[in-house]
Amino acid sequence: MKYTFLSGLLLLSVSHLSASTPTDNWQRADLLLQQMTLEEKIGQMNQISNKSKLTGPVSERGFKSLVELVENGMAGSLLNVTDLQSIRTYQEAALRSRLGIPLIFGLDVIHGMRTISPIPLGEAASFDLEAIERSARWAATETAASGIHWTFAPMVDISTDARWGRVMEGAGEDPYYGAQVARARIRGFQGDDLSAPNTIMACCKHFAGYGAATSGKDYNSVDMSRGHFYNYYMPPYKAAAEAGVATFMNAFNDFDGIPCTGNTFLLQELLRGRWHYQGFVVSDWNSVEEMVPHGYAANRKEAAKAAANAGCDMEMCSLCYFDHLKELVESGEIPEQKIDEAVRRILYAKFELGLFDDPMRYCDTNRLRQTVLSSQIRAAARDMAKRSIVLLKNDNQTLPLSPKIKHIALIGPLCDSQLDMRGGWAAEGVVDSIVTLRRALTDRGYTIHYAEGYNAETGLESNTAQALQAACQSDAVIVAVGERARDSGEARSRGELNLPSGQQELVKKLVSTGKPVVVLVMGGRPLIFNDIKNHAPAILFTWWLGTEAGNALCDVLFGDYNPGAKLPMTFPAHMGQIPIYYYYKSTGRPADPNKPHTTRFIDIDNAPAYPFGYGLSYTTFTFSTPRLEKTMIAPGEKTCLRVTVTNTGKRSGEEVVQLYVRDRFASLTRPVKELRGFQKIMLSPGESRTVEFPIDQEQLGFYTNEGNFIVEPGDFDIMVGNSSDQLQTVSLTVSK
Ligand code: BGC
Repeated sequence: MKYTFLSGLLLLSVSHLSASTPTDNWQRADLLLQQMTLEEKIGQMNQISNKSKLTGPVSERGFKSLVELVENGMAGSLLNVTDLQSIRTYQEAALRSRLGIPLIFGLDVIHGMRTISPIPLGEAASFDLEAIERSARWAATETAASGIHWTFAPMVDISTDARWGRVMEGAGEDPYYGAQVARARIRGFQGDDLSAPNTIMACCKHFAGYGAATSGKDYNSVDMSRGHFYNYYMPPYKAAAEAGVATFMNAFNDFDGIPCTGNTFLLQELLRGRWHYQGFVVSDWNSVEEMVPHGYAANRKEAAKAAANAGCDMEMCSLCYFDHLKELVESGEIPEQKIDEAVRRILYAKFELGLFDDPMRYCDTNRLRQTVLSSQIRAAARDMAKRSIVLLKNDNQTLPLSPKIKHIALIGPLCDSQLDMRGGWAAEGVVDSIVTLRRALTDRGYTIHYAEGYNAETGLESNTAQALQAACQSDAVIVAVGERARDSGEARSRGELNLPSGQQELVKKLVSTGKPVVVLVMGGRPLIFNDIKNHAPAILFTWWLGTEAGNALCDVLFGDYNPGAKLPMTFPAHMGQIPIYYYYKSTGRPADPNKPHTTRFIDIDNAPAYPFGYGLSYTTFTFSTPRLEKTMIAPGEKTCLRVTVTNTGKRSGEEVVQLYVRDRFASLTRPVKELRGFQKIMLSPGESRTVEFPIDQEQLGFYTNEGNFIVEPGDFDIMVGNSSDQLQTVSLTVSK
């Protein structure tokens, strides 16, 4: 049934459509486009934020209200409208416009809408693509039930710099893994049918290179060679385009000296030219206008011109299109064809979402009530959370905690902070619903001796005596340290990642009580905690785990779940090592601690605290000697590596078997290793499994400085193991 608010004109067009071919959404978009005035087309290219959530300069350009602006067809999309009633009000206003074109509602659903999952970097630690996809699907289900059609996620920016606060939103440092996670998240959000009740449009952001902000300072300039970009930053964006992500978002930074929002190399040559991308591109918040302070556009009109001509289809917030596109088209500075292409893509997305068939299909109060925080969604959030926890250290099998334990000393305000457990950028995450560790332990009937131990604001020790007394009264100590959730995320770059000495000293004192001590390090990024690393017997890195944080932590602490996560970013041992990553190059003077004139520091080691891909389990695994099916292959031929993994411990557990490749000599210098495959396997005690990795072009190739993917004949090291620093190597030759 067609929605009754449809204006006469659109009804005409819709009935005309059904009389001919109602099926193809590009044709439907074309037909509608033909009926639009230039003003109406430009209206579709404006995305405006709900007033109450304003963080940037938006005015309503002579309209009494946002509703009136929408009624006049001057917005294609709104963001940050989060309640069903307001969504209905604005959608009804859009339907009263001359052509009745519905709005798309967008929101940053980064790790859950109301039920919150671990922060994306935490989820990435699971190395479990199915779980990551499921998590995105649940987020989509709750988001769609909340009336929203579009999330500004996934963020697929590679970053090797933990100072950058937004590493929490991504999948870490590795381009190969980042590409896999991008695909999984997009599948999860979008499914196969955007008009289904449990799917929403995804947005691949930020195109491109945003994670390479110089010195990890958010919004900073980016400068890298094309070869570096193609090999280490581009793969997740390309994977997203191939996976059919509905939209792309520009990055704030410049690239090759040109702000990404007006960058024709990125938007035309790569995205549309080489990748044949069909979806639409949205700017980042105010990023069109920001081309002025970038020193690229002389004024807002020039900024609008640069962005529209480059192929930025929708402008988020800064209203340069609103103010200037019409005159720019009329003066011939922007061909109307450009506008038509942009609007066609936006309309296509609206048809794909099913909005023309039922603009209110996402506004169903009953569905919302049944979906939000349902037991099924909470169970999924808990499952994802336990899969995200990384076991960094476990001396003397301190973990899992013995079932005999009754009294627990629980130290640190982070154990009991709902806001922190929820994590940064948590959409409409319901704070009251967050299960903290203190709450989960209490619910399980443990006697808790709680003490703060340090001041959450200053990091200084506070009432240490009380914390030590709590330890002495207890069978075991759990102490939570780390950064606050608000310390990572956008505009949260940090110049110091060492945990406050107050937290680290406190841990040392707790360890000296002789009680078993488990340290939970919480944070949105790699942190440095060498004292804790050296002194605590057991350490879990727990990120921010979301709604079910406390329950998931208990699952791991008491061994109901055996942790199997791995670090998706290298953890530095010293600030001076940053940026740090495992795929460094050998250089002409490879690091040698005994030789001064090699690539190293004189005052600190090169070695990280914990390498990429590292993470322990409550059980142990051994790897057989790996074998290649063929050790010499012709160009284009495939081979296969086999390795047998055995669970040599007493518990079932998961291991992430990782495949790395090194091209020994190439026409461009190549890293000492690059991840090119992984498999997560579950083994019972004593069980063995032979894991097979196909080795073909994808594993052996690299991008030239012109962006061509090639495999060069020669010798390769093929490495396999359970961490980027624990590998066995076999040799492969690709003949000429
Ligand atoms: C961020 C984007 C986000 C947008 C809308 C910007 O500041 O960079 O990632 O999607 O705001 O909230």
